[in-house]
Amino acid sequence: MVFLTFPSYQAMSEAAADIFAETLRKKPDAVLGLATGSTPIGLYEELARRYAAGALDFSAATSYNLDEYIGLAGDHPQSYRYFMNQQLFSRVNIDLARTFVPSGLSDDFATDGRAYDAAIAAAGGIDLQLLGIGNNGHIGFNEPDAVFSKETHPITLTESTIQANARFFDTIDEVPRQAITMGMGTIMAAKKVLLVANGAGKAEIVRQAVSGPVTPRLPASILQFHPDVTVLFAEQ
Ligand code: F6R
Repeated sequence: MVFLTFPSYQAMSEAAADIFAETLRKKPDAVLGLATGSTPIGLYEELARRYAAGALDFSAATSYNLDEYIGLAGDHPQSYRYFMNQQLFSRVNIDLARTFVPSGLSDDFATDGRAYDAAIAAAGGIDLQLLGIGNNGHIGFNEPDAVFSKETHPITLTESTIQANARFFDTIDEVPRQAITMGMGTIMAAKKVLLVANGAGKAEIVRQAVSGPVTPRLPASILQFHPDVTVLFAEQ
């Protein structure tokens, strides 16, 4: 595992963009695993800036997002599909038809999850998986639990995640209680993992994830078993 600390959020975002740029340079048709939340916003800004400057080309790339809220359609402003369209997809030349976010509307999320994993495998697997980390150590929406869940699956969000994500909604009551998320098997199958974390508030959970016991009670800890993980941490 490579662990790098940066003095600023901007410096961390640029370093994360360097890793995306390197992936796309080596493999223009790379399969990118993408994340939402506040931490990747600076990275997406930087990718959009580099694309506008002619330094990046997403035309052959494919993307699969980690997760989506159950109950929100893709045109809902708080949905992760909407977030990705706004923050990245509409600002670079990725083919929107090759951007995938799990659907938040379904009669059968378990079947959808298996189909999502099968599609990722059929695309050749994820070359670079971007992750944030929740205050409780979740990655994607894999919440602390007694076991690791392997496949993309529906889950019930913990109170801590609902509270953390309430900042994006008008009231806490509007935060969906469930989500669909890539599983740990899906994430661990990525060829390379890039975890970004911002600010002193994340320092302790990141420390536990990278050097504490590997346990489903702190889902990100499983990354200690992945052969190619880079963690970028911004101190402020
Ligand atoms: C988002 C996701 C989550 C976030 C995590 C950190 O797609 O999967 O695991 O990465 O909740 O969120 P922020 O960056 O807002 O602190």
